[in-house]
This record gives sequence, structure tokens and C-alpha cells, in this order.
Amino acid sequence: MRLKGKCALVTGSSSGIGRAIAARFAREGASVAVNGRSPEKIAAVVKEIEAAGARALGVRANVGSFAEAQAMVERAEREFGRLDILVCNAGVFHHTPFLELSEAEWDEVLTVDLKGIFNCARAAIGPMARRGWGRVICVTAISGLTGYPEMAHIAAAKTGAHGVVKALAAEFASSGVTVNAIAPGLVETPILANFTEEALANFRRRIPVGRIGRPEEIAEAALYFASDEAAYTTGQILNLSGGTLI
Ligand SMILES: NC(=O)c1ccc[n+]([C@@H]2O[C@H](COP(=O)([O-])OP(=O)(O)OC[C@H]3O[C@@H](n4cnc5c(N)ncnc54)[C@H](OP(=O)(O)O)[C@@H]3O)[C@@H](O)[C@H]2O)c1
Repeated sequence: MRLKGKCALVTGSSSGIGRAIAARFAREGASVAVNGRSPEKIAAVVKEIEAAGARALGVRANVGSFAEAQAMVERAEREFGRLDILVCNAGVFHHTPFLELSEAEWDEVLTVDLKGIFNCARAAIGPMARRGWGRVICVTAISGLTGYPEMAHIAAAKTGAHGVVKALAAEFASSGVTVNAIAPGLVETPILANFTEEALANFRRRIPVGRIGRPEEIAEAALYFASDEAAYTTGQILNLSGGTLI
């Protein structure tokens, strides 16, 4: 078990990629705090992890709120005794042409996908650095590396996240805390409901491996970044896109 005795918080783990990461970490022996906005979805993931024999804690919180993120991290630290691993994965998705993009949509994506990282990391990194071991992993997107039509708001948040990852990696490298990002291409999650079948077929054609990624494949990369074996890897952005971006 590669995370035996470790305690993790995975934001946005009531669904999709975060859910797969939470389940993968639990299978490797970690206690996992499961977060999202819907209590029903959180409870289902907690039940699934507990049924597999691991410890789980459901924490409903809006990562875009500094106070709620702070309280969530403190609760996980209180219940588990400490927090070793933070995965900033929570995100919202609107696929919107720029000339139709509202201020509210821009603000929501920037608040959840970018400020959410600040809110959670600000609360979690201090105690990790004081203990001399910590892992912060951000789930971003290849749109943060390439830009993408009709995703100016998402690209802005994800590119910003890459800057935060590099800055924090440099600041905390000597404290035993690594900070890395996984930038997926398209992944099979409820987010795909935003696209028409035709749009998905177009996307598929442009993925060299010939299919959309699976949440479990993102979880394997998160497991590597979370492990002891990745102690020398920090400030990196892993493009995990089936060859979409080479
Ligand atoms: N799927 C893809 O193709 C893809 C590609 C590149 C990057 N990503 C990134 O991967 C991450 C996960 O996406 P996904 O595809 O797994 O989406 P998903 O299945 O829709 O899951 C999103 C998760 O984030 C949570 N969430 C949303 N807003 C939140 C908030 N304000 N506070 C706390 N939790 C919040 C959701 O909780 P509720 O359901 O309770 O609202 C849910 O658990 C996102 O950052 C996304 O940008 C996804």
C-alpha cells in the first residue's frame, strides 16, 4: 500500500475525476476526506470508500469561499489528526463562446477553479511544511497550456493554476512539500454532458490514442504525485491527454 497511514483531502471528489482519485487513494491505505456541494453525492462516495474498508469523511464545502475552505481543511485535520495530501480538483465547466460569456460565468469559474486552490492550499500547506512532508496536486486542463475556443474563462483559471503550482513548488520545495499539476485532455465524467454527440465525435477524432480518457487514468497520475517515490518531482504539469498535446 503506497499511501498507508496518509490522510488526504480531495476537493470535488463527489463525482468524476475527484471520485476516482479518492477511491484510488483509499485503496492504497489513505484516509480520505470527500468534498463537493451535494450532500447526497458526497454520502455515496463515502459509503463506497468505507465499503472497501478504508476511512472516509464527507465534508460539504464551497471551495470558492475562503471561510468554508478553511473550515473544511481544519475539520479534516481535526478528524484525521493531520492532512498530508491535498488534491485541488473541484471545478465547474461552461463551454461558452466569448461574446456570450457573462461576468457571472467568468467569476464563477475563476472563483472555483483558481481561487479555490488558494483557499484550500492557504489552509493546508502551513502544517504540512511544519511537519516536513506534504503533497499538493492540482487538477487543471490542457486548455491551460494551449487555450481553447469558447473556454477563455476555463483557460484563464487553469493557466493561473499552473502559475500557482510553480510558485508554491519553488516556495515549499525545501520544506518537503511538493506541488504538481495534472492537466487532462477530455475525460469521461458528467462534464461531457455539456457537449453534443457530434462535438464529442469531433474531439475523439483529434485524440491520437483514439478515445476519451478515463478518470482512473488521472487517478494513477495523482497517486504517483502523492507517493513517497515522487519526493523529487515538484513544480511539474503532467499533460495527460492521450497525445492530444505533444
Ligand atoms: N472531464 C474532463 O474532460 C476534464 C478535462 C480537463 C480538466 N478537467 C478538470 O477536472 C476537474 C474535475 O472535473 P470532472 O470532469 O470530474 O467534473 P465533475 O464530474 O462535474 O466533478 C466536479 C466536482 O467538483 C465539485 N464542485 C464543483 N464546484 C464546487 C465548489 N464550488 N466547491 C466544492 N466542490 C465543487 C462537484 O461537486 P457537486 O457535484 O456536488 O457540485 C464535483 O464533485 C475539474 O477541475 C475540471 O476542470 C476535467
